[in-house]
Amino acid sequence: MPATVVVGTQWGDEGKGRVIDNLAEQSRMVVRFQGGNNAGHTIVNEEGEFKFHLLPSGILYSHVTSVIGNGVVISPRVLCEEIDGLKGRGYPVDNLRISGNAHLIMPYHILLDAASETMLGRRKIGTTKRGIGPAYTDKAARLGIRVQDLSDKKILRQKLDTAISVKNDLLEKVYNNPGVDPFEVMEQYAEYADRLSPYIDDTSLLIDRALKRGEQVLFEGAQGTLLDIDHGTYPFVTSSNPIAGEACVGAGVGPTRIDEVIGVCKAYTTRVGEGPFPTELFNEVGDYLVKKGGEFGTTTGRQRRCGWLDLVLLRYAVRLNGLTGLAITKLDVLSGLDQIQVCSMYEHEYDDQKDNYVDFPPHQSIFYHCTPVYETLPGWQEDITGVRKLADLPSEARNYLELIEEEAGVPIKSISVGPGRDETVEV
Ligand code: GDP
Ligand code: IMO
Ligand code: MG
Repeated sequence: MPATVVVGTQWGDEGKGRVIDNLAEQSRMVVRFQGGNNAGHTIVNEEGEFKFHLLPSGILYSHVTSVIGNGVVISPRVLCEEIDGLKGRGYPVDNLRISGNAHLIMPYHILLDAASETMLGRRKIGTTKRGIGPAYTDKAARLGIRVQDLSDKKILRQKLDTAISVKNDLLEKVYNNPGVDPFEVMEQYAEYADRLSPYIDDTSLLIDRALKRGEQVLFEGAQGTLLDIDHGTYPFVTSSNPIAGEACVGAGVGPTRIDEVIGVCKAYTTRVGEGPFPTELFNEVGDYLVKKGGEFGTTTGRQRRCGWLDLVLLRYAVRLNGLTGLAITKLDVLSGLDQIQVCSMYEHEYDDQKDNYVDFPPHQSIFYHCTPVYETLPGWQEDITGVRKLADLPSEARNYLELIEEEAGVPIKSISVGPGRDETVEV
């Protein structure tokens, strides 16, 4: 499977980083294609824990070329910090390549993200406040500053002057906040330009060449299907398209080049930030999942909201991404529960009329007021973190996996039972 896209099937944090890290061992290239440092991808290996916000999750392997594609919005400060942090831990980053067409997150994007959330008050989105929305807004408005602009200081200054005059008006006159100093920003970004210039490349061409050589290329999604700006729980979404189709746009490859699409699916569901979540648990089982699953945001440290697995959402993710396989993560977290519930459809009541939804409702107002209909399965008590063969899992765990596979209509390709590199059950 030379070109494989890996995406999240839920609201992010499904364990994409660890799945990519597993697959990267057999790959030559890993490409991030959307999002920015709102992402937080965790890898645990013999050396300890690594949290990546911008660097692709193949970066720990010296045989892998790590690509940040044109669809990503890049905070040069965070990227430089990640590069330094990794070098400090003894990992070279010479194999990093950054698309010149990727857009830069600027200091005013971060200020505008925070100001907008404050203005929304109770209606806030609960963003990561990393400037993601404002950076994609500027990309669409054609006011954005791109990585390639760093290589020409004259152009950089011109573009900065134009953008900052508009953004300072917005910050000062609309949000009543201080603006940014154009000279300071120019100085800062000139420094980043020097630091990042060795990595800038024509990444679409690099990917094309790798594929022509028959090498395995992984496309690493950030966030998750339900955070997609077009298909997710709008407006409680991110500002990019985390679904598989975006791998083509955000990396610069045609759709006929993609061979496999793997959906990463946590054995239960989590969500960070605001927005509807039908299977959310507000009881001791929810607390159990938070604690046992260590469900605290990798980027912002916020506690993740936890709930049961939702098959309506999973089927939606299969459809939108054209999944060819599933990677189930964190199955070990469910050990110790007497019963496991799984949402098979929604019920919606309006004006005495009751409707059932097996598929994702096409209207957010319906989704907001849906009640999950659960199937209840027996749980298992055994610690499964040491299991490496499917047959060695408790029968209750295998039943649960069979139900997921059947309902999704897509084969399970891997199951993880712990955060570590080798904590994977062979399928
Ligand atoms: P991502 O954003 O999709 O890459 O996921 P995150 O890294 O934000 O969150 C996943 C968390 O679960 C991380 O802390 C991982 O180390 C951890 N993790 C991944 N797979 C497993 C697993 O199978 N079992 C357990 N217990 N933890 C896991
Ligand atoms: P990974 O790649 C979980 C959420 C935020 C917020 C909404 C919009 O680690 O799975 P944004 O800052 O993007 O404008 O915030 O999206 N969000 C994530 N939630 N995992 C992520 O990334 C996320 N990236 C953004 O919490 O609700
Ligand atoms: Mg994450």
